[in-house]
Amino acid sequence: MTVVDKFIKFHRLSKSEYIELLQYQKDDGIAEYIREEAVRLRKQYYGNKVFTRGLIEFTNYCKNNCYYCGIRRDNRYVERYRLTKNEILECCQQGYALGYRTFVLQGGEDPYYTDERMEDIIRNIKNEFSDCALTLSVGEKSYESYRRFREAGADRYLLRHETADSGLYRSLHPEMMSLENRKQCLYNLKKLGYQVGAGFMVGPPGQTISHIAEDLIFLQELCPEMVGIGPFIPHHDTIYSGERSGSVEQTLYLLSVIRIMLPKVLLPATTALGTMDPLGREKGLAAGANVVMPNLSPVKKRKLYELYDHKICTGEEAAECRNCLSRRVDSAGYSLSDERGDAVR
Ligand code: 5AD
Ligand code: FES
Repeated sequence: MTVVDKFIKFHRLSKSEYIELLQYQKDDGIAEYIREEAVRLRKQYYGNKVFTRGLIEFTNYCKNNCYYCGIRRDNRYVERYRLTKNEILECCQQGYALGYRTFVLQGGEDPYYTDERMEDIIRNIKNEFSDCALTLSVGEKSYESYRRFREAGADRYLLRHETADSGLYRSLHPEMMSLENRKQCLYNLKKLGYQVGAGFMVGPPGQTISHIAEDLIFLQELCPEMVGIGPFIPHHDTIYSGERSGSVEQTLYLLSVIRIMLPKVLLPATTALGTMDPLGREKGLAAGANVVMPNLSPVKKRKLYELYDHKICTGEEAAECRNCLSRRVDSAGYSLSDERGDAVR
């Protein structure tokens, strides 16, 4: 049996087999075969539904210094902002009226938001929007903090592992951060009963197919409910400003591979993909993605949450983004859903 057939039949491979599979991205026939199988599985479990998540970027302060990220601590050129609890709740109210039933609170690792402040925000959101799911994406915290957030009502947690190769992880992050801790955080979140999202960037400086094979092995082992991947895009105020962006084609191929590996996974067509290609998100849906995450942040603040250059949707009102995405999803042959959008069992 070929590696491709073995993968489609058993949904898992060894590292060396993944390396072989990844090389077939350049083979149009195989890439199309993989894509069709991904779409078949996606339709089997989710029909033509695309789930939406209203993304609220509530702080761009960050104590970390990841070399690729535009809001890294040492970037003195970013104007920093924080949203108050009331501003966050207003974003949710606007989002709710537009049909969102999941909110994602995303931010840098900002010590201003102590456990007490986070609990207060989480409780307020869950109280006012009891039929909505709440996702947090606020980085690496202690087991105890994650436990408190969960107790306060958070349902899901996004923490991309970024890369599962310790050497590449080291080269993309300063000494204080470690892959080991990142992975431990993900296992802690799982243990606490969160629906967990991991993920990685496609094409950061130094990444090879062998590194990506390790990402796939890690995802296979972790079995997260959600996986976020998007192309790396350089930011002008980082050391990678002159580097090449990640490939859209490779990202699309990986979306299909991940759909086959974890057939029921919630898989977003990311903003980074839409930034690299005007039809990137539509192509993502056509490759097996089933989630979109439009921006709900106040328009005045959006430009300031710039992880990479040329990020899209920074000038549009929440309603404009919802309508724009709804049209895009329709054009791809799918339909935006008004449900909370939990993973199917
Ligand atoms: N290009 C693409 N994605 C990036 N991220 C951070 N910086 C960049 C960049 N320059 C991604 C990381 C992070 C997520 C919120 O955004 O994977 O986890
Ligand atoms: Fe934001 Fe199109 S999705 S403007």
